[in-house]
Amino acid sequence: MVYDSARHATRRDVVRYGGSAAIVVLAAGCLGDDDDDAADADDDAADDEPADEDAEGVVVGTEAGFPPFEMIEDGEIVGFDIDLTEAVLEEAEGYELEEFRDMEFGSLIPALQDGSIDVIAAAMTITEEREEEIDFSDPYFSADQSVLVAEGADFEPESLEDFDGQAVGAQVGTTGEGVVEEELIEEGRIDDGDYSSYDSYVLAVEDLERGIVDAIVIDEPVGETFADDRAVEVAFVHETGEEFGLGVREDDDDLREAINEGLEAIEEDGTYDDLVAEWFGEPEDDDDEEDGDEDDEAGDDEADDNGNGDDGDDQEG
Ligand code: ARG
Repeated sequence: MVYDSARHATRRDVVRYGGSAAIVVLAAGCLGDDDDDAADADDDAADDEPADEDAEGVVVGTEAGFPPFEMIEDGEIVGFDIDLTEAVLEEAEGYELEEFRDMEFGSLIPALQDGSIDVIAAAMTITEEREEEIDFSDPYFSADQSVLVAEGADFEPESLEDFDGQAVGAQVGTTGEGVVEEELIEEGRIDDGDYSSYDSYVLAVEDLERGIVDAIVIDEPVGETFADDRAVEVAFVHETGEEFGLGVREDDDDLREAINEGLEAIEEDGTYDDLVAEWFGEPEDDDDEEDGDEDDEAGDDEADDNGNGDDGDDQEG
């Protein structure tokens, strides 16, 4: 059901690191089954159905330096979270997307709380700490952390235990930063002063390429994406079993429920899988828990037309 990057986006790592990638089991029912005709709603809305005049406009905040979830391309915010949120809100009765707003990651929760945005779509991990301040939708994605190093660098760690005084970077306020603090600094593997906290992972990756830091801790699917485009590589995956949710204000139960219904609807009608295919390459079926059929990938016909993944299909017919 919900895309689990530990099983899909990390296929290369499974090869490289002997299958250490985690299988994250999602909470049951996070995107349940709901067999109505919600799938038709967006088609109708596009042509004959007038826009719901009473629909509440929803402003969505993100931090667009986190490919492929959210990034700037040709001056536009694009990415998996962007498409997903758009699709979800199309299905969310009584609401309509007003706009996306790009801001610092650390400003997202305050902006939600003060009402300047209504939803956070930023590959944000559902954590207990954050749940004290905001609410989350059902989980829509699972991921671990990874450690990025520069291509061809001397420092080639295989686990966090290999760190010993290296300069490390992460984005401020992220769970990656949490790993640095709790497992590198507090464990005495690096000093406080060895850690650089970046406003954006894009800047951190630049510093990694230039040798200003030796490693970056970053969500694994994003680390993989940077590794595809930049002179950096994933040294290893650090299993954290994180789940991403869309953030909403604590009192905004109506919106949260509408979003959850939207998530359910796009899971049902195949939109979710199409988006995974578009932004992460082809989805596989949930073969492990179902029928063990690993060769089933070709079943997804949408995977070809994304123009995005360059390593998706080599033998399209
Ligand atoms: N999943 C991590 C967290 O929640 C990182 C998210 C960073 N997202 C972004 N758009 N920069 O802390």
